[in-house]
Amino acid sequence: MKVFPDNFLWGGSIAMHQCEGAYLEDGKGLGIMDLVTKGSVNTPRMMHQTLQADTIYPSHEAIDFYHTYKEDIALFAKMGFKALRISIDWSRIYPNGDDKEPNKLGLVHYEKVIDTLLEYGIEPIVTLFHFEMPVAVVKNYHSWISRETVDMFVRFVETVGLHLKNKVKYWVTFNEMNHMDPMSELSDFFTYMNTGYTFKQLEDPKNELAIMGYHMTLASMKAVEVLHHIDEQNQVGCVFGLTAFYPKTCNPKDNLEAQKMQYRDYYQIDAMCNGAFPTYKIKEYKANGIQLEITDEDHKVFANNRLDFIGLNYYASEVVASSIDENEASFFGGLKNPYLKESDWGWQIDPDGLRFLLDNLSRRYELPIIITENGIGAVDVLENDGSIHDPYRIAYLEAHLKAIQEAIEEDYVDCFGYLMWGPIDLVSATTGEMKKRYGFIYVDKNDDGTGTGKRYEKDSFAWYQKVIESNGGIL
Ligand code: BG6
Repeated sequence: MKVFPDNFLWGGSIAMHQCEGAYLEDGKGLGIMDLVTKGSVNTPRMMHQTLQADTIYPSHEAIDFYHTYKEDIALFAKMGFKALRISIDWSRIYPNGDDKEPNKLGLVHYEKVIDTLLEYGIEPIVTLFHFEMPVAVVKNYHSWISRETVDMFVRFVETVGLHLKNKVKYWVTFNEMNHMDPMSELSDFFTYMNTGYTFKQLEDPKNELAIMGYHMTLASMKAVEVLHHIDEQNQVGCVFGLTAFYPKTCNPKDNLEAQKMQYRDYYQIDAMCNGAFPTYKIKEYKANGIQLEITDEDHKVFANNRLDFIGLNYYASEVVASSIDENEASFFGGLKNPYLKESDWGWQIDPDGLRFLLDNLSRRYELPIIITENGIGAVDVLENDGSIHDPYRIAYLEAHLKAIQEAIEEDYVDCFGYLMWGPIDLVSATTGEMKKRYGFIYVDKNDDGTGTGKRYEKDSFAWYQKVIESNGGIL
């Protein structure tokens, strides 16, 4: 029986704006995701400037995790979780970003969540930026365009780091900052989630995106510095959302295109692991008339702070070609792969893509890697007897876990954990739907806000329990 490495961190990953609800409760400020409407696979979510009447904003209620965390964590513990990745919503700690004092109620709340995890022996993994930014930081400081935002973020990190010292060891600075630079209409939304601006709202997009990308990277490195200073035992990583890109044909031009797409995602990882903001990126910016302000102090920050680990979010792969007919394009703008099936939301299912990326990252950076997100969004049916049969989810997860096992055993990748995305149904980030369900735990909540909120165990719940119990031996 093949098993995973000792002390492998089996668990799951959630983000607060997708599950907490408790909108503006206990002193929370307005966050950028509080202004985003519900959409669907065909209707993009809208980002409003101010709240509008008769509109559903899914983050306001979500699954009410703010109040149900004890019961929900008990269910994670029942599955045998060794780790849970949560985020801390910046707008609950500094509602305006520049407040003189942190919001104590926010700090106390997260401490209680973490204490609950620790009582069950579940390792908390805390993300400090998962699309949760106070709207005031965007309105008053132009988001990541200004350096003041970097300073405010670092102060937030320090406040949280000190408050949770000796309780949290694993920290994630940012979630998927690599998606802030748009490639398609959908990615326009990713720009918003990272910066509070849509691509269309930017006055000088090329320039402002470059500056924001640089400042976010710098903020991440400064967060590493602060957290190591608070406790040298802290393990600090950053999470990247990567897609595996394949060339459509063996035409060398297609191959170059695939490589180019892959590299798009790497400049921030290079900066965080190689001791300097990459020269190739500075040259690229210069060639495009973009001049970054990089201070001597910045150089030191990059040189002296390397990530301790890399977090990988993986869902799907894409096919690219040197020229793409838009009608052929799949969900993320690439081409459909005839060898792969896709989810109901058009995401192409490809466990080998995960192995490909693990291998790639491992050889490129020689750092430990943790899978911080992986899963499948699907429509689940709650039967009259309270059961939910989700063999498609088990099949997806099983195939991806096998790919990880192969990467560990055959490619010698140092992968120390698997955090399945959305172990409990929560609001979809890209569509705002509840209908796009990822969980082992079903939440009786519908897109129109109706539902009892009651939790049910899906078939995959018992399956994951056995996977963890056997340390992957049943796969
Ligand atoms: C990742 C995000 O990009 O994808 C999560 O970090 C998100 O926040 C996940 O939920 C899945 O995407 P979606 O749109 O299906 O919720």
